[in-house]
Amino acid sequence: MEPSELKEARRRARQLTGEIEQHNRLYYQEDRPEITDAEYDRLLRELQDLETRFPELRSAGSPTQRVGAEPAAGFETAPHRSPMLSLDNAMDADQMRAFVERLGRKLDRGSQQIELIGEPKLDGSGVELIYRHGELAQGLTRGDGRVGEDVTRNIREIPSVPARLSAGGGPLPEIASIRGEVVLPLAAFSTLNRARLAAGDEPFANPRNAAAGSLRQIHQIDHDRLRSLEFRAYSLAEGMPRSAKNQAEVLATLSRWGFVVSPEWRTCRGLDEAMSLHGELLEARDRLPVEIDGTVFKLSRLDQQAILGTLSRSPRWAIAFKFPPEQAITVVEAIEAQVGRTGALTPVAKLAPVRVGGVIVSSVSLHNQDEIDRKDIRVGDTVVIQRAGDVIPQLVRIVLSTRTEAACADARFERYRLPARCPECGGESIRLEGESVTRCPNLDCPAQLKNNLRHLASRGALDIDGLGEKLVEQLVDATLVGRLSDLFTLSEEQLAHLERMGARSAANLVASLERAKETTLQRFLIALGIRHVGETLADLLAVHFGDLDPLLHASAEEIERIEGVGPTIAESVARFFSDEANSAEVARLREFGVRWPPIEAPREPGKRSLDGTAFVLSGTLSTARDEVKKRIENAGGKVVGSVSKKTDYLVAGESPGSKLNKARELGVRVLDEAELEKLLS
Ligand code: IVH
Repeated sequence: MEPSELKEARRRARQLTGEIEQHNRLYYQEDRPEITDAEYDRLLRELQDLETRFPELRSAGSPTQRVGAEPAAGFETAPHRSPMLSLDNAMDADQMRAFVERLGRKLDRGSQQIELIGEPKLDGSGVELIYRHGELAQGLTRGDGRVGEDVTRNIREIPSVPARLSAGGGPLPEIASIRGEVVLPLAAFSTLNRARLAAGDEPFANPRNAAAGSLRQIHQIDHDRLRSLEFRAYSLAEGMPRSAKNQAEVLATLSRWGFVVSPEWRTCRGLDEAMSLHGELLEARDRLPVEIDGTVFKLSRLDQQAILGTLSRSPRWAIAFKFPPEQAITVVEAIEAQVGRTGALTPVAKLAPVRVGGVIVSSVSLHNQDEIDRKDIRVGDTVVIQRAGDVIPQLVRIVLSTRTEAACADARFERYRLPARCPECGGESIRLEGESVTRCPNLDCPAQLKNNLRHLASRGALDIDGLGEKLVEQLVDATLVGRLSDLFTLSEEQLAHLERMGARSAANLVASLERAKETTLQRFLIALGIRHVGETLADLLAVHFGDLDPLLHASAEEIERIEGVGPTIAESVARFFSDEANSAEVARLREFGVRWPPIEAPREPGKRSLDGTAFVLSGTLSTARDEVKKRIENAGGKVVGSVSKKTDYLVAGESPGSKLNKARELGVRVLDEAELEKLLS
């Protein structure tokens, strides 16, 4: 093999990994995906293919080996009792057939003899519920599949989550781990989005994100939103009755215990029956009360499932046969570059309006230059647009056969290149080596300024009444505002000169600017528009630091010590405040009177109860070591490598080895994980 081939594959694998991780974060942590499932699957598949061709590219940390993203900030985390796996997808009949044939080969049967069970693939948020002696003890989100977020409090409010299992006709297991999907029924989804739009909030892209968002509310919990969720159970990872022989009996057990099970499941003998169930579900899809995006087929018999086994990411005995996404055909009328809040130049295709999946689509993001090149999208092209469950439309591909001579003769018909100069400020745009994004690096670029101003004025930030999109444009274009803080220098007189602005509205705006100065630290942090800092993170920072000044000088390492804050975010926050222009701007905002009350108790009471206490960890712990270490450190303790007389506690997991003997010799107290847990809480 040519070394250059491997080099190219490595470059592409790195790029794909970066993209997939970014989309994992958007999907799992922020509940706002930017690409469709189909596009995501395409990226993952490309990476899988590369790793198959060049096995040296596959590492344990590769997204092909993991599920989802690390849990988001703000929730306590807890390990799953066993990993929560994902499912492999079949995107068409061929892939479905290949799956069944593979089962046939492994089980030594023809593909019409394989017994499968088909269930609707619920488009919600996967969770694990733990019942101890029949009582609900814990509810976890999937998280990264290994560790999830503890959402027990919220989950208890979902009406279809039984607080206790009904025993009706049999003993209950000591521990039961039930997996299922939290979904938001479509009726509740539209009610929720209507309310959000009316309140000026961004609507959720789809019921799945709305469900995940509702389930993971941390502050000012909207209980109605929780009550409108529904939990549907589909598997039992622990606590299986001995009598259960197949998945149908598992579902029957779940129903008997009091769970809602999607009623559309059916046992199918062979590929043909499976295909026809899939067709029926596709046809019934629009009439169902909850969103489904395919059929999950599982090998019916549990003993056969065990023969097939699981891979690190997904079981070999199940597959998600996805529905085809909803598509339509239209024409690209223009391609424009739009400048975002971070200066990213995003190419956007303006389309002849077309109806896809119930809404009119007239523009679609083309993401970046690579995407345009890969799909070779040009003005005048006929293109396929899709809206797969998501509200965000995608351009799937161009229809090459319609590239007529006339179309090609069109003066605009040439390869599109993102402009070398920013369309807003005229400054040079740049694209860094290894990055897919082209940026305008000019921090004073009016486009960035406008976006930052809009963000600062938004509800979750300073909530400036009357400072809408139009006015922001005017203020920047008239050079009345050249940076955020200039807003607070505006006088009624200056404002009154603007078009469509009377003395009355000028006075109103000045008054609401005055009101907006009185804010909270959390809102202020959001208002600054620091990358990755949304509501949850701003909250964590505010509570941890108590006021702005300690945060201004905090290093990335210090910020990362906050539970739930990862290195990327910590780095982004530290970098923001160490930038001179930014800190000058922060100072100016305060000078002009933006203020907030300090936060009374910056740390949760008792949190630092372990100040100065030394721990040694030994053996295999059920939680990742880094996580345990972080928690001990958050409580003021420290974790050291070896046992000495100065050690206060040895935490012994499974097979603790020689450290345990040493600890006993020295009389160091030994804790098991449960005892450590007590100490920490
Ligand atoms: S079985 C190891 N059954 O789809 C078995 N999953 O794309 C995995 N899902 O992680 C789960 N409906 O969150 C199963 N009827 C169903 C499902 C279902 C939706 C979700 C689940 C899973 C994801 C994989």
